[in-house]
Amino acid sequence: MCGIVGYIGTKEKRNFLINGLKELEYRGYDSAGIAVLKEGEITAFKATGKLSNLSHKVEHFSSSGFGVGIGHTRWATHGKPTEANAHPHWGQYSYIIHNGIIENYKEIKDELLKDGVKFLSQTDTEVAVHLFEKNVKEVGDCFKAFEKTIASLQGAYAILLITKKEPDVIFFAKNAVPLLLGTNAEGEVYFSSSDAPLVGLVNEVVYLEDGEYGWAKDKEITLLKEFKSQHLDFKTLTHDKISAQKDGFRYFMEKEIYEQSLVVAETLMGRIKDNSVVLDELSHLDLSSIDAIKICACGTSYHAALSASYMFERLAKIRCNVEIASEFRYKEPLLDPKTLFIVISQSGETADTLEALKMAKQSGMSTLAICNVDNSSIVRTADMTILTRAGIEKGVASTKAFATQVVTLWLLSLFVGEAKGTIEESILQREIAALLHIPLVLKVNESVHEKIRRLSKRYLHGHGFFFIGRDLFYPLALEGALKLKEISYLHAEGYPAGEMKHGPIALADSELFTIALMPKNLLYDKMKSNVEELGARDSTLLIISPEPFELADDFIKTTPQTHMMSEFFEMMIITQLLALEISIRLGNDVDMPRNLAKSVTVE
Ligand code: F6R
Repeated sequence: MCGIVGYIGTKEKRNFLINGLKELEYRGYDSAGIAVLKEGEITAFKATGKLSNLSHKVEHFSSSGFGVGIGHTRWATHGKPTEANAHPHWGQYSYIIHNGIIENYKEIKDELLKDGVKFLSQTDTEVAVHLFEKNVKEVGDCFKAFEKTIASLQGAYAILLITKKEPDVIFFAKNAVPLLLGTNAEGEVYFSSSDAPLVGLVNEVVYLEDGEYGWAKDKEITLLKEFKSQHLDFKTLTHDKISAQKDGFRYFMEKEIYEQSLVVAETLMGRIKDNSVVLDELSHLDLSSIDAIKICACGTSYHAALSASYMFERLAKIRCNVEIASEFRYKEPLLDPKTLFIVISQSGETADTLEALKMAKQSGMSTLAICNVDNSSIVRTADMTILTRAGIEKGVASTKAFATQVVTLWLLSLFVGEAKGTIEESILQREIAALLHIPLVLKVNESVHEKIRRLSKRYLHGHGFFFIGRDLFYPLALEGALKLKEISYLHAEGYPAGEMKHGPIALADSELFTIALMPKNLLYDKMKSNVEELGARDSTLLIISPEPFELADDFIKTTPQTHMMSEFFEMMIITQLLALEISIRLGNDVDMPRNLAKSVTVE
C-alpha cells in the first residue's frame, strides 16, 4: 500500500505535496518522492525513510506559479526500499507515481528491454512510464498513448503521470486501489489516495471507480472508462480530518477489518500464474534437501503459524511444527539443517522472533521470513522473505496482517507441495480456485456487522469467554479470544472444542459465554456434540455457522461455502467485529488498548 497526491494550480506545490503525503504516511513510509513540472521543466526529489527526510531535501525548493505536481509515499512490494525504487519513476520526459501492483510487469519489461530501454529501478511501476513513452512514439499523441498504456496494464493501480509533452496536464488511472480527485472555485485540481489530504482545500470530490482513467488540464477534467466518456459524480467532502484519515470508520481497527478484502487481493497479486503458485522470492530455495518445517512467532503471528501447520501437513504433506518464539529460545532446541525455519512477524521487529531467527541461522538452517515490513530487522536477517503486503496496520490489535499471513502461508504450502510433487494436481487446482475466491469472502457484510453490533450488548459481563473450534478453526478460536482480550479486557480463552470435557467444562454455567466456530466443511458433527455438551450445562452459546443450531442463544449465520478456508475467513471477520463492538460498548480505546504496544522490541 502506498499513498499518492497530485496538484494542478498556481500555489506553492511543494506545500500541498508534502503536507498531503504527511496525511497519507500511514499508507507507507519506507521512502517518498515528489516531482513538479513548471515552465516546461521537471524537478524531482526522492528520499528513503520517513517523510521528514524528503521534507528536509525540498526545504529550499520553490514551485509557485502555474504548474503540476505529483507526490508518493511508498510501502515496498517489488524492490527494496531504496532511493532508486522510490517514486516518481521517469522515462525521457515523463514522470509517474503508482500505488498498487502491476501484475504483468515482467512481460512488459521483457518487451521494453528488447527495445533497448534502460531501467533504473527494480519496481513494477517503472515499466508503465517507459511503455507510455513508447506508445507516444507510436501513436504520436499523449492522450491516446495514455489510454493505450492503461489498457495494457493488469493488476491494481492508482497512477498519476506528468509529461513535458503536455505540461499543464496530469494523467490519471484507477483500478482496485483508491484514487479521488477534487476541484475548487479557484480552479485548482487535487488528487489523493484518500480524503484526508483534501480536507479544507476542496468541498467536493469524485471517488474514481475501477477501470476509470483520464486527464485533468486546468479545471477541465476528462474521465473515461473503456474508451467511453464518463460522468463526474461529485460528492461533498467531510470537514473532519481525523475521520477522513479513518475513511469515515470509527477506529483504525474497524477500517483495517474492512480493508482485508483489498489487501488480500494484493497479497495474491502476481503469485498465481497459469494455475500454479509463483513465489519469485524463493527462487534460491532448494526444497529437495528440506524434509520438515519449523515455524516460530508470537501472538497473532503465532496463530497464523498454527493454522499453517495444518495446511503444510494436509496439503504439502510435509512435517510442520510450530513454537512460540519466547519459548523456543531457551529450550535448547535440536535444530536440523534439513528443516526449513520460518518466522512470521507483522512488524519484523519482535525481539523474541528475531532472536529465534538468529539462532536458527547460526545453526545452518535455511531461514524464511513472512513479514509485513520490508527492511525490518527480521527481513534483513532472514535468508529469504515473502512480504505479506497488508500495508501499515495502525490498530494495535492485528487484523489485516493476520489475514494476509494466513493467505501467504496457504500459498506457501501449495508452493512447497508443487515443488516437492507431494500435492495432487486436482487438489492444487481446487485450492488455487479457493484462494482466488478469498478477497470476495472478505468483503464485510454490513447486515452481519449490524447484527453483531446489536447482540454485543449481551456479552459485556460474565465470568469468561471460551472460543472453541476444531482443526484449523482451533487457531482461529485462539485468535478470536486474543482479539477480545486485547481490546475488551474481558477474560477469553481459545480452546480445541474436543478438549473442553477434559477440564474447562467445569466452568460452564450461564455466565460462561461459548463462542462456537462451526464450519460446515470440517468436522461439523464432532463440533456439534462438543457444543451440545456445553449447552446441556447451561453455558450461553453464540453459534457461528451456516447451519442453525437449536440450543443457540445467539446465532450468526454464515454463508454456505464449499471450501473450509472460505468459512475460516468469514468467521475470522465475525470474531474481529465481535471484539470491536464489545470494546466500543465498554468505552475502551479500540486502537490503543491499555498496556499494549504495536511492536514488541523487548524480550
Ligand atoms: C495481537 C498482536 C500481537 C502481535 C505480536 C507479534 O493483536 O498484534 O500479538 O501479533 O506481538 O508481533 P509481530 O507479528 O509484529 O511479530
